Amino acid sequence: MSQATTREIGIIMNGVSGRMGYRQHLVRSILAIRDQGGIELPDGSRVTVKPILVGRHEAKLAELAAAHGIEDYTTDLDAALADPRWEIYADFLVTKARASAIRKAIAAGKAVYTEKPTAESLDEAMELARLADAAGIKTGVVHDKLYLPGLQKLKRLVDSGFFGRILSVRGEFGYWVFEGDWQPAQRPSWNYRAEDGGGIISDMFPHWNYVLENLFGEVRSVYAQAATHIPERWDENGEKYTATAEDAAYGIFELEGGIIAEINSSWTVRVNRDELVEFQVDGTHGSAVVGLFGAKIQHRNATPKPVWNPDLADDHDYGADWAEVPVNDVFLNGFRQQWEEFLVSYVEGTDYPFDLLAGARGVQLAEAGLASSAEGRKVALPALALG
Ligand SMILES: NC(=O)c1ccc[n+]([C@@H]2O[C@H](COP(=O)([O-])OP(=O)(O)OC[C@H]3O[C@@H](n4cnc5c(N)ncnc54)[C@H](O)[C@@H]3O)[C@@H](O)[C@H]2O)c1
Repeated sequence: MSQATTREIGIIMNGVSGRMGYRQHLVRSILAIRDQGGIELPDGSRVTVKPILVGRHEAKLAELAAAHGIEDYTTDLDAALADPRWEIYADFLVTKARASAIRKAIAAGKAVYTEKPTAESLDEAMELARLADAAGIKTGVVHDKLYLPGLQKLKRLVDSGFFGRILSVRGEFGYWVFEGDWQPAQRPSWNYRAEDGGGIISDMFPHWNYVLENLFGEVRSVYAQAATHIPERWDENGEKYTATAEDAAYGIFELEGGIIAEINSSWTVRVNRDELVEFQVDGTHGSAVVGLFGAKIQHRNATPKPVWNPDLADDHDYGADWAEVPVNDVFLNGFRQQWEEFLVSYVEGTDYPFDLLAGARGVQLAEAGLASSAEGRKVALPALALG
């Protein structure tokens, strides 16, 4: 009987002291994969992971490494990139610092896995996608929202034909982010400074791009209105600063096939929904409302017939007309599931759809959304190609 083999893949993890880098990518993804003994491939062999932590502060890296049983850490990214033990470069830095680090990783011949947005401008995002393509490098960009249980249920509904012809998608994303004076803010202050790569459009439109294109169709145009509703905030040190980036964006997206999507993104809204993000999808044969976890549906045969009459109080319980979609599946943490898929694709050499070109489409939508808002017009999105 042959012994099952295990291949260990070294991963450079840059930015693990940050919110996303630590919680989602290190602890919930890479360490979870390591601690379960890796991933089993279809041929019975296994792939496991070995991280090296990279950052600017040695003491912090040493503390993280000790806390999680990690042998390797360094403040010298170039040295890690030059070391053949590390095959994949993973980037969770602030957006502004990302492109230059990814450029170096590509030059060093590493595969690249990165947070979104992949760059601050479309030109730079396309440059990275082209450099990686020319170097024959495998790349992956975080598409975490697609893995949310609610969105997976939505995908199931779309694939089953439940909606008939899909007409529209309405999304509400957001919650109140404290200004930071009388209660500390729950997001980093750079998110509210344009000069530091902040702004809800560059943060959220890349997510909306991959959600829309993977569930409904590619985005053909955008009209967006950005607003900086709260002009002053207080940072991590209690210092007052000017919020130079938008904290809300009201966007209308035309999709291929004629579906209209309208998504509000806001850090200045108080939640009166079941979840922090919700999408309502209406189709000729049925509708659905999905969130991070939940999904409910109303079929055409269960659709009530409201009649508008402002003189009579309406005591119909519209909420009761919806049915819950059952889970029927085991959903892993989305970041981890995507990491596992990327690693399998990397080892098996299969095509990986969520690459730097997909990431560039997200940056394109963000850039077009900002231009639309600045110029007060609808902006078309031409198809992007590497050639
Ligand atoms: N997928 C998602 O849902 C999601 C959610 C939030 C943020 N993000 C993205 O993840 C990235 C990180 O966001 P975060 O909220 O974790 O930020 P954060 O501020 O918590 O962490 C940023 C990390 O970058 C490092 N860093 C800061 N400035 C640097 C510089 N000049 N050079 C090198 N390193 C630097 C910090 O030390 C830290 O490790 C951003 O690109 C953001 O858009 C994605």
